[in-house]
Amino acid sequence: EAKHIAIVGATGAVGEEMLACLDQRNFPISELTLLASARSAGKTIPFQGKDIIVKELTHDSFEGVDIALFAAGGDTSLEYAPSAAKAGAIVIDNSSAYRMDDEVPLIVPEINPEAAKEAKKGIIANPNCTTIISLMALFPLHKKYGLKAIIASSYQAVSGSGAQGIAELKQQCEALANGGEIVSEVYPTQIAFNVIPQVDVFQPDNYTKEELKMLNESRKILGVPELKVTCTCVRVPVYRSHAVSITAVFENKPSVEDARAVYANYPGVDSKDDPSQNLFPTPLDTTLKDDCLVGRIREDKVIDNALALWVVGDQVRKGAALNAVQIAEIL
Ligand code: A2P
Repeated sequence: EAKHIAIVGATGAVGEEMLACLDQRNFPISELTLLASARSAGKTIPFQGKDIIVKELTHDSFEGVDIALFAAGGDTSLEYAPSAAKAGAIVIDNSSAYRMDDEVPLIVPEINPEAAKEAKKGIIANPNCTTIISLMALFPLHKKYGLKAIIASSYQAVSGSGAQGIAELKQQCEALANGGEIVSEVYPTQIAFNVIPQVDVFQPDNYTKEELKMLNESRKILGVPELKVTCTCVRVPVYRSHAVSITAVFENKPSVEDARAVYANYPGVDSKDDPSQNLFPTPLDTTLKDDCLVGRIREDKVIDNALALWVVGDQVRKGAALNAVQIAEIL
């Protein structure tokens, strides 16, 4: 049965991709309400041959809405998601605002779709992008070998910071090519031709919030409360697709051959891993693609029962918009 869908943050990087995913997947839509800030009210966005007028988000925006996809930042979700739920909509929230709430399921549809039934507040959370992409690689191995610990470093694209992150990298590249002044507003220092070992804000233990999301959200999604995770999240001058270098430690001894084979039969993830042919996935390989790609699978040389691997995924798509639309499909 077709649904009335609302997108909050329809003019943003993730909102725009949500529209693309709804269209490509032929999601059954009876009505589409596009919401953003007052700045965007009155703009039109084309969808399936119609121009849809963007409306200003208010507490009364959700009458008759079945599913509200939120992609306008945590503060907006905290303020408006309860209004949407009260109006009877199921909220699928892309921000971090509700992810660790015990009454809010945190879902990757390939991993824990059954959790959708426990949306006690009418809110379901979409996990952090780096966490989703990492778990797409790790979950098939977890089922086979029992995941105990993750040691990771991420290489995160600027589109993870929204439209402004993309604009900042572009401005800096152009300025550096043409001898102009670079402007740093989104990032703490120059991102063009540089890498920045800070994603989100620092916490008292010297980890960043992004790094702790990997720990806390992985535990919740996998249902492994004693899972150990340490990671360094790094912003790199890539427009789109995150990469993560991971050492995954298991209960049982993994095999490289079996690990490669596991991905052949798994939805949403595939392997591209043939050192003899210099084959490995890069962010450009997954850009605008649904599937995550795993490569560089090898035995870890430091830790027993561990594999080193590399996973890439389009974080605007599987890391955000696609995952949210897949949750809507479960509903
Ligand atoms: P707007 O375009 O009107 O500012 P991004 O992550 O790419 O920066 O996009 C953020 C999205 O969230 C945009 O669609 C933006 O709308 C929307 N947004 C940001 N703040 C608010 C707000 N207070 N109320 C409604 N929408 C908001």
